[in-house]
Amino acid sequence: MTFIQGPFYKKYVADMELKGDESVLEFGPGSGKMSRYLAESLPDGRLTIVDLSKAWLGLIRKKLMKYPNVDLKQGKIMDLPIADGSYDVVVASFVIHDVDEDERQRVVDTLAGKLKSGGRMFVRDPEVSGRNGHGITGADLRSVMRNSGLNELSFKRLKPFYMGPMNEGVYIKE
Ligand SMILES: C[S@@+](CC[C@H](N)C(=O)[O-])C[C@H]1O[C@@H](n2cnc3c(N)ncnc32)[C@H](O)[C@@H]1O
Repeated sequence: MTFIQGPFYKKYVADMELKGDESVLEFGPGSGKMSRYLAESLPDGRLTIVDLSKAWLGLIRKKLMKYPNVDLKQGKIMDLPIADGSYDVVVASFVIHDVDEDERQRVVDTLAGKLKSGGRMFVRDPEVSGRNGHGITGADLRSVMRNSGLNELSFKRLKPFYMGPMNEGVYIKE
């Protein structure tokens, strides 16, 4: 699967059209399949990676040792000392659906708060009707994003041949 996933994550990052000097917050990286592409796209920028899992962050620390522009933080985004309004980009890939429903809006509100004015947030999640019923409906994802005060730039449903249906949205803080 890795030979497919590499290009899949690489393209997602390439489509963000980063200039290279941005500050980017990656929320919920898991094993860090996308983290390397973000780190190498930011030669003059910085990447902050936040996850609940100490184990995943340990793995990423090893993978990204050679990138001095990467900072790892473990814990709940609401509790971490990360200044509001300090990121150009927030990325949450396949994670919003994993956040407990009773915390989801607060988490997304907090992530939106970390963006600078004009900053963008990239989200994508499996559609709940996917293979095993795990995920979030497109309507619920759009709703939680809009309720955070961000404006939708694009939203699309995708069906890659190697995975179930998913939704992808880009939002801006105006
Ligand atoms: C399915 S993985 C996503 C992996 C990766 N972003 C990707 O695109 O392949 C979900 C990740 O979100 C993290 N996570 C889930 N809930 C979280 C929360 N409330 N705060 C921070 N991280 C969370 C999990 O620990 C896990 O690393």
